[in-house]
Amino acid sequence: MSCQIKAVDLTRLPPADEILSQQEAAFFQTLRFPKRRVEWLGGRFALKELVRACSGVSYREIEVLPHPSGKPVLRVKGEESPLAFSITHSHGWAVAAVSADERFVGIDLEKIEHRLDAWAKDFFHPSELTGTGDVFLTALWTQKEAVVKVLGTGLSLNSYDVRCINGQVSFFGAALAAYTRLGSPALTLQTDERLTGFMFTLAHGH
Ligand SMILES: CC(C)(COP(=O)(O)OP(=O)(O)OC[C@H]1O[C@@H](n2cnc3c(N)ncnc32)[C@H](O)[C@@H]1OP(=O)(O)O)[C@@H](O)C(=O)NCCC(=O)NCCS
Repeated sequence: MSCQIKAVDLTRLPPADEILSQQEAAFFQTLRFPKRRVEWLGGRFALKELVRACSGVSYREIEVLPHPSGKPVLRVKGEESPLAFSITHSHGWAVAAVSADERFVGIDLEKIEHRLDAWAKDFFHPSELTGTGDVFLTALWTQKEAVVKVLGTGLSLNSYDVRCINGQVSFFGAALAAYTRLGSPALTLQTDERLTGFMFTLAHGH
């Protein structure tokens, strides 16, 4: 498998009008909060850098458009692209991943911060809590979020219905139904401290 991954520093983005298509720019104008604006732009810049490198088209011919499901749609020269992709942002960084030969890609980046036990018990099924500490819990969080991005559901489902236990994923309830609809792909999780002070997970499968 090959997934290309690109991280961009949100303080070093090109001007929006250099990278956004007309339709993207119209949506960008509707975003009011500065943090949301810069993260939205940064995610698009990271993804467009990757797509541009493999297809040679210009930034404005690559469009990452919002979709009611939450999972954006990628269009290249007006056509929906078959590339699998995912976007995440956290604390000053945006990261994108793209793959031409994997059908499913989901990524998540989270800053390593203090995590309360009560939060962990609420969010993770007891079977997932095979370790302790902020690095472990942040890594587990990135795994779960990367997987729900593969499913395309986001966290609209019960977080107990996606269980990441020692790097293996299992599905229950509505998550199992969503996973089955995708054709039950074998998913691999790769988790690392890709940026200092952050945990990152790439979930991918065919
Ligand atoms: C999708 C979700 C896992 C994102 O996690 P997050 O840590 O908040 O945010 P991240 O920065 O990692 O990821 C955001 C990106 O995920 C992508 N994304 C959003 N919804 C998605 C979905 N359903 N499937 C796949 N990808 C999705 C988008 O590209 C988004 O970035 P963009 O809006 O700039 O394009 C989670 O936030 C979620 O499920 N949100 C929707 C449901 C929800 O709980 N809403 C509460 C609103 S108050």
